Amino acid sequence: MSTVSFPPDFLFGVATSSYQIEGAANDDGRGESIWDRFARQPGAIADRSDGSVACDHYRRWADDLDLMKWLGVDVYRFSIAWPRVLPEGRGRVESRGLDFYDRLVDGLLARGIRPAATLYHWDLPQALQDRGGWAARATVDAFVEYTAVVVERLGDRVATWMTHNEPWCVSILGHRSGEHAPGLKDVGTSLRVAHHVLLSHGRAVPVIRALAPRAEVGIVLNLVPGEPASPSAADLEATRRFDGEFNRWFCDPLFHARYPADAVEDYRKAGVGGVLDDLIQPGDLAEIAVPTDFLGVNYYSRVVLRSNAIPESENLPRVVHLEPEQTDMGWEVKAEGLGMLLDRIHRDWGPKRIYIAENGCAYGDAPGADGRVPDVRRIYFLDSHLRAVQAAVRRGIPVAGYFLWSMLDNFEWAYGFSKRFGIFWVDYETQRRVPKDSARWYREVIARRAMDSQPFPRPAPSTAMVGGPV
Ligand code: FCB
Repeated sequence: MSTVSFPPDFLFGVATSSYQIEGAANDDGRGESIWDRFARQPGAIADRSDGSVACDHYRRWADDLDLMKWLGVDVYRFSIAWPRVLPEGRGRVESRGLDFYDRLVDGLLARGIRPAATLYHWDLPQALQDRGGWAARATVDAFVEYTAVVVERLGDRVATWMTHNEPWCVSILGHRSGEHAPGLKDVGTSLRVAHHVLLSHGRAVPVIRALAPRAEVGIVLNLVPGEPASPSAADLEATRRFDGEFNRWFCDPLFHARYPADAVEDYRKAGVGGVLDDLIQPGDLAEIAVPTDFLGVNYYSRVVLRSNAIPESENLPRVVHLEPEQTDMGWEVKAEGLGMLLDRIHRDWGPKRIYIAENGCAYGDAPGADGRVPDVRRIYFLDSHLRAVQAAVRRGIPVAGYFLWSMLDNFEWAYGFSKRFGIFWVDYETQRRVPKDSARWYREVIARRAMDSQPFPRPAPSTAMVGGPV
């Protein structure tokens, strides 16, 4: 049978993050993080859970790495918990925390898996939040110090460094909508946070390069293609605004050393742009636009923009409709969106290399009587998205690897354990891991570095909630 194949040096991986899987919240001197604190607020987490135990990966890491070896992945993307390394955020280093990541990295290398470390996947030490968190410019210095401590210890073995995961979520979900830790709701604060996170990336990159000269360095963004529901002026305007706030606000400073003028104007018109005046200091944008080796892109879905600025009856009829299939997150399954996004990134921002740093879907399939987890909707999702990636590689877009989100079912932030993204099902009572059919499917793709030319058949649409991507 003919196949759709990937270049021999294309990297297949899985991704996780510290707070979502490690648990062991009080072990080995780990300090409190903003997620420990936030999860205790009534109503913050849908199922009232928290990450204090999660997948107990802190203790079970060696078994989890054995599962990765069985999968055959080339690379594993994990994140480092800042409060394990510097429990008070700055100053005193907790060597037992660093030792954990040291063992993890050695364990990966021993199994022939390349480590890719994310420095910040949202678990800020609470001690820093108490001093203003990311809204305070001093947190930029704290991040650079933390980076130096970690890279000094692991930089001889970690070949890929990702500074931040999804600054949009940190800034908007954490400080504007309040859905994520620290749960603040203020537009001005969210702009301060976005700027400081970007600046901390810009300042951390040279530190990583100095300490680990052979490593590659980049940042990970969640980018979402927006499409107008109709060609009406109102829908086009809604799409422009969405793109400005969501995508260009992060990509333009990183690649062109400027914030998008139209989005700045939108904030000024809304009366909140004044914050930017003292926030952006001379030289900041040049630092943010430091050259990097790759851009990590997290893709889950697209959005279709329908203006609510005018009554529906005055708008043109919709020409773009949503796909019937939505995941348990209520996110539309749209693999073509990934292809469009990659073309756009290549054209507008031109990173040297691109990693798909996260891609995956939540479906609740559980083991049946025979013990198998037949998660065909996930296989369809992965199959269609990997085809979009392969087609982009064929078009000459420099996509160098793909990280499936996620290795394990885990703590899905404000949704708690109610959404299952893993290719291994986790029994949270016993911590048993069960490979879902998607894990077996991915294992075969990796082993062959190819997929059948025939796409995986589309399952009947599942009914799901309606919502938008985060
Ligand atoms: C991304 C996060 C990741 C996970 C997935 C579903 O926004 O980076 O931690 O929650 O969404």
